Amino acid sequence: MTVSTTDTNNNLFKPLKVGQVTLNQRIAMAPLTRVRAQVEGAVPTDLMTTYYEQRASSPGTLLITEATFITERAGGYQGVPGIWSKEQIDGWAKVAAAIHAKGSFGYVQLWALGRTAGPEYLQSRGYDLVSSSNVARPLGPKNKLIGTDTVGTVPRPLTVDEIHEYVRDYAQAAKNSIEAGFDGVEIHAANGFLPHQFLHENINKRTDEYGGSVENRARFTLEIVDAVSAAIGASRVGIRFSPYYVGSDLGAGPGTLELYAYLLKELEERGLADEANKRLAYIHTVEGAIEVHNSIGNPILRRPLEFVRNVWTGGWIRAQRFDRKLALEIADVDDKVVIAFGKPFISNPDLVRRIKENLPWAEPDYETFYVPGAKGYTDYPFYS
Ligand SMILES: Cc1cc2nc3c(=O)[nH]c(=O)nc-3n(C[C@H](O)[C@H](O)[C@H](O)COP(=O)(O)O)c2cc1C
Repeated sequence: MTVSTTDTNNNLFKPLKVGQVTLNQRIAMAPLTRVRAQVEGAVPTDLMTTYYEQRASSPGTLLITEATFITERAGGYQGVPGIWSKEQIDGWAKVAAAIHAKGSFGYVQLWALGRTAGPEYLQSRGYDLVSSSNVARPLGPKNKLIGTDTVGTVPRPLTVDEIHEYVRDYAQAAKNSIEAGFDGVEIHAANGFLPHQFLHENINKRTDEYGGSVENRARFTLEIVDAVSAAIGASRVGIRFSPYYVGSDLGAGPGTLELYAYLLKELEERGLADEANKRLAYIHTVEGAIEVHNSIGNPILRRPLEFVRNVWTGGWIRAQRFDRKLALEIADVDDKVVIAFGKPFISNPDLVRRIKENLPWAEPDYETFYVPGAKGYTDYPFYS
């Protein structure tokens, strides 16, 4: 398919209803951890408000916030915001108001780390390193967010009672997000964090109702979905998956497609049962840079996620290494797709305008991704 880079008739630039909000264009800001929250109390700062306000500058854009801890014990990195305390909710309310003042929309990404938490953070607060099972993180790249690493530290499996508490904590964090004025929440079930640690057969070695079969490994995630949906309404809820995650020992395996097809079928059935009330706003996929090849060996598709549409008929946010051309191509063949951009949104506060008008993009400075302060955060210029 050929795409004109000036094609403003492309689906990408058409409005789309996602859950309760109508986007002006099918472009979202992907969740991006930037560790600029106040370390004491994990409270969002005025600098964060400025950062989100800048990125909301094209009206009708969906911003998914950085991953945000549902409780203190679910956390584990300094500078990451939370959404359990009154001060945090007040801080987030300023962010939500700034996004809305620009005519855009915000979803809070809800985060629980499990075995990837920083040991010092947990020890200093009296919490254990936990996961689905006692499977330690294998050797891999050093975690830039915590300096030290949890590699080799064996986590304690959560008890069933604790699993139920976590499910309730997600629901409370979702309520807090709505109280702060956000349009919805995204459950972070991707990238190796706690829900993913239950989903993945390499990590989840439980023998109770939360481990073993696909149904059992999916149970925690689906219980979170149901509790959060009951708390704030399914049409304010999205969920992020990374079937083709390539980190540590959570890569795609023989059971990957079966697992995600099951999850999507469950989510789809909830939507069909009661379209108005039980249909999630969207599912969000992080897509691995995996090539599949046609019969003569040519790469034909970097992201073999077309199976999603065999099952899930609702809103679908697709992320990972999209450029303008690929976004136009993918959006134009699926009328319910939103393209999320991560790194391009770091260095281009006006990314939506740049995509619409086909303006050049600034490159991000990787050194300032995870350091405090305005540098590399709110000082990227708008296009002029
Ligand atoms: C600095 C940085 C922080 C990120 N933080 C999060 C996060 O909090 N939650 C999440 O789901 N993904 C996170 N990601 C992944 C992005 O959402 C996105 O999937 C990834 O950057 C690929 O998209 P891109 O090629 O458009 O950047 C992060 C990525 C970067 C570069």
